[in-house]
Amino acid sequence: MDSITLTRPDDWHLHLRDGEVLKAVVNHTAAQMGRAIIMPNLKPPVTTTAQALAYRERILAALAPGSRFEPLMTLYLTDTTTAEEIEKAFESGVVKAVKLYPAGATTNSASGVTDIKHCAGAIAAMERVGMPLLIHGEVTDNDIDIFDREAVFIERVLKPLLERHPALKVVSEHITTRQAAEFVAQGPDTLGATITAHHLLFNRNRMLAGGIRPHYYCLPILKREEHRQALLEAATGGSPKFFLGTDSAPHEKGDKESSCGCAGAYTAPAAIEFYATAFEQMNALDKLEAFASLNGPRFYGLEPNADTITLERRPLSLPSHYGFDDGRSIVPMMAEEELAWSLKR
Ligand code: NCD
Ligand code: ZN
Repeated sequence: MDSITLTRPDDWHLHLRDGEVLKAVVNHTAAQMGRAIIMPNLKPPVTTTAQALAYRERILAALAPGSRFEPLMTLYLTDTTTAEEIEKAFESGVVKAVKLYPAGATTNSASGVTDIKHCAGAIAAMERVGMPLLIHGEVTDNDIDIFDREAVFIERVLKPLLERHPALKVVSEHITTRQAAEFVAQGPDTLGATITAHHLLFNRNRMLAGGIRPHYYCLPILKREEHRQALLEAATGGSPKFFLGTDSAPHEKGDKESSCGCAGAYTAPAAIEFYATAFEQMNALDKLEAFASLNGPRFYGLEPNADTITLERRPLSLPSHYGFDDGRSIVPMMAEEELAWSLKR
């Protein structure tokens, strides 16, 4: 197979940031994806419908002329989010989901949820109106090993949540473990999961063996090979519960290459090419369209995109970095490496 054409994909988990960085990154995604769920972990976070509407306008203003990319907005859940704010968000038609960051779990999560019991009113409203809850599923306890935080979250938080709210739509975001893949596969139809390209392509050796590589440090952290295999099986296995979410998370080069580097891999410029590379490892390129373009819209109750993209077997070289106007730069994942697939432009 030297070329594949698929319904245009969407990215169901994306960080675009704001200001100059937004302008530098948004068109990488817009060149590939029809839509994206935009993460709300700005500084300060997007906690109200009014902020989400204003952020959406800034995203639209940063798009290249003629772009038809559609940002799907989210709210950042806090201990004090009200049921009224959820209803307002739902009625806006522009806010498509609410994101739960456990406080302290990841980048800009300081205003996140300290205990899910504080969110009972907001979550009941989400269940009532049909607003999906997107979950960063890691506990933050210091005594829980960073490699175990996802599996412990499932037992302590996710299972009881699904039992309390049987009609609540939940996306387990960027799952990284066999435990999460199995839990989602066996869970109710109201439960879906996004999987990143980096967790399909790499295990933790890529980050830690033969030198420490900060551009592969992300949260949830890369896991052992057995977990990567479980994710590949989930993504290519034909279940509609798993869909594409890059978690592309740009950080300035110096903030990554630092004695205390930020978490996040920048994958947006070659997102669909990364996924094609992973699916090809499983001889499952025929499963890419469902995962990238069909399962996500189905979960969110939206139509798939009406147009297509074509991937060609033609080498793609990732650059060393993307510079932006003020001299700063962002290093993409697999910088200065080559992929076998390229998006036809
Ligand atoms: C994300 C970021 O930088 O905003 N970082 C990451 O490693 N994925 C936050 C997140 O999704 O956890
Ligand atoms: Zn993220």
